[in-house]
Amino acid sequence: MKTVAVVGSTGSIGTQTIDVVGQSVDQYRISALAAGSSVEALAAQAVAVQPEVVVIGDAALGPQLRTLVPSHIAVEAGSEAMAAVAAEADMTVNGVVGFAGLGVTLSCLESGKRLALANKESLIAAGPVAQKARRTPGAELIPVDSEHAAVHQCLRANDEPSRVKRLQITASGGPFRGRSRQDLADVTIDDALAHPTWSMGPKITIDSSTLMNKGLEVIEAHELFGAPAGDAGYGIGFDDIDVVVHPQSIVHSMVTFTDGSTIAQLSKPTMMLPIAYALAYPDRSVTAYGEVDWAGDLASAGTLEFSRPDVEAFPCLGLAYEAGRLGGTAPAWISAANEVAVEAFLKERIRWVDISDVISDALSVHDGDPGDTLEGVIAGDAEARAIASESVRRRGA
Ligand SMILES: NC(=O)c1ccc[n+]([C@@H]2O[C@H](COP(=O)([O-])OP(=O)(O)OC[C@H]3O[C@@H](n4cnc5c(N)ncnc54)[C@H](OP(=O)(O)O)[C@@H]3O)[C@@H](O)[C@H]2O)c1
Repeated sequence: MKTVAVVGSTGSIGTQTIDVVGQSVDQYRISALAAGSSVEALAAQAVAVQPEVVVIGDAALGPQLRTLVPSHIAVEAGSEAMAAVAAEADMTVNGVVGFAGLGVTLSCLESGKRLALANKESLIAAGPVAQKARRTPGAELIPVDSEHAAVHQCLRANDEPSRVKRLQITASGGPFRGRSRQDLADVTIDDALAHPTWSMGPKITIDSSTLMNKGLEVIEAHELFGAPAGDAGYGIGFDDIDVVVHPQSIVHSMVTFTDGSTIAQLSKPTMMLPIAYALAYPDRSVTAYGEVDWAGDLASAGTLEFSRPDVEAFPCLGLAYEAGRLGGTAPAWISAANEVAVEAFLKERIRWVDISDVISDALSVHDGDPGDTLEGVIAGDAEARAIASESVRRRGA
């Protein structure tokens, strides 16, 4: 029986993780639940799941959580306590949104445990630091992001890392696929939150509408699979990672090998499959999630389409490639600036089309920090947020 810490348990990934574990109670037990500030939702989960400990990230809410949770369950508060539960469980699902997930990612890896990573922002912001943590004996990073879970599965088709040639990361295209930049000047929050194929938390849903999510995923893929062949990687550079628009969200990503073969992973869009994959690896879940009925569903659904992304209408994608190629803390800067811009958009302070301009403002003054220390990453995140906040203020109503 493996113990699982679910951090970000009240969110989209967190609640789906609880559902997946609930369907495999003979294999996994949730030992810890943690969330940011949703005290009542977290307390209700604690009553239902009966973990050993619950943690609320906002330290001021600890006393309130204590009154709501049965006395035999320990209650902790604060970001350090959140990171600590990731060091104790056999596996941690990091479903925190944004840079706030960094402590959990590092704590889990540095403790030599398995990290089922949905929180891409931590890997993107702290690439070199996280790579060092990944080398801790016993540490394993299994991606939960569906595209990276797909690539992870495709790569298992081949034993020789140097025979991997290219990665194709698929993108649904989001709600604004096919629209021109001019057309997008006045889109509303509701328009941007109306994702055609995935139901997710608000930040990643906006990121999907701008294609920033895809840009962040390109950097994530480079972090996960880019190390030189022979050094636990596949020698994949940014020029070897393509983004392919695939509106049906059935093909979750693909890998092309030197002999010309392309291997893809296909299933209906559900995060429960990549969550179950990350928990069960190297085994497979006996419960099926998102299985395509090839004789039925797909025959009636029709065609699988693929096309190139429109980088003019969606400049965030190009900004992410640029930051990835710059390296150091440049990915941390664009990720932080994006968090600021998305929050400002959701508060109606800037327009949707301003999001990429805010990110561009931050990236254009990146200071070239190599990002090889945690202090450098934290300082870079703070500096980029300050620059982005100023850019929002200048543009805002
Ligand atoms: N949802 C998906 O289908 C999906 C797919 C691929 C990747 N991802 C990635 O998974 C991560 C989570 O996405 P999501 O859609 O599940 O987000 P979400 O629904 O917004 O949930 C976010 C979770 O993080 C917690 N949280 C927020 N701020 C925090 C803080 N400062 N400290 C500690 N915890 C905090 C939230 O707690 P409160 O409820 O208390 O605020 C909540 O439990 C993101 O990195 C996203 O890119 C998600």
